[in-house]
Amino acid sequence: MRKKIIAANWKMNKTINESIHLVEETLSLLPADHPRDAVVILCPPFISLAKVSEALQNNKKIFSGAQNCHWENFGAYTGEISAAMIKSAGAGYVILGHSERRQYFNETNEQLAQKANTVLSEGLIPIFCCGEPLNIRESNTHFELLQEQITKGLFHLMEDEFRHVIIAYEPVWAIGTGKVASEEQAQEMHEFIRHLIRKQYGEEVAGLTPIIYGGSMKPSNARGLLSQPDVDGGLIGGASLEAADFVEIIKAV
Ligand code: PGA
Repeated sequence: MRKKIIAANWKMNKTINESIHLVEETLSLLPADHPRDAVVILCPPFISLAKVSEALQNNKKIFSGAQNCHWENFGAYTGEISAAMIKSAGAGYVILGHSERRQYFNETNEQLAQKANTVLSEGLIPIFCCGEPLNIRESNTHFELLQEQITKGLFHLMEDEFRHVIIAYEPVWAIGTGKVASEEQAQEMHEFIRHLIRKQYGEEVAGLTPIIYGGSMKPSNARGLLSQPDVDGGLIGGASLEAADFVEIIKAV
């Protein structure tokens, strides 16, 4: 059985104090038996990462993650953060290739391939984002784009490295727009991604790789999306900033 993953992407929101407050609120709203089957990951801004990790220290099912990292381990890259630093802050996961990073910071598939290498070499787990903008969906070339993003970003990995990867399918047109992919659209893309993995790494690895959905997931649509056979969880932006909403989504697993 592959894992269910519910990850929160706080993006550039919350000061250090606000981050701690949100963690405490989230923990207090989680009933003792939750998350039953889900691994929950909170990805705050870098500045709060060590504090959030500390606040989650005694928790066995809620972990912390970063929203990005550099592809080198150290050096003259002013303003950047390495995978080793992220690890030293107590985090276990790193979001890579979020569409906002691809769009506003010009991240390329080639850079993401290198980032995946450094993240894995530090023993961290990449949450690798892929997804198509609206014009690509409208021109019906979204399968090709996804294939390119995944092939160039991940398929250089050896099988034993790839086994650690989580993939997040996030249609760009559904991120922060309130426009959610239908359950059928999500399932279709997740199935396609799993098919690509099967061709590259075989049936067993394809069956084990968590593929999570992101894009306006909220309490009202989480259950439907999460019940799709190839949707193994969610990457949640806006709704993760409200503890009650985020906990409702966790309960929908
Ligand atoms: P959203 O963001 O839930 O606010 O649409 C998801 C994401 O960007 O990861």
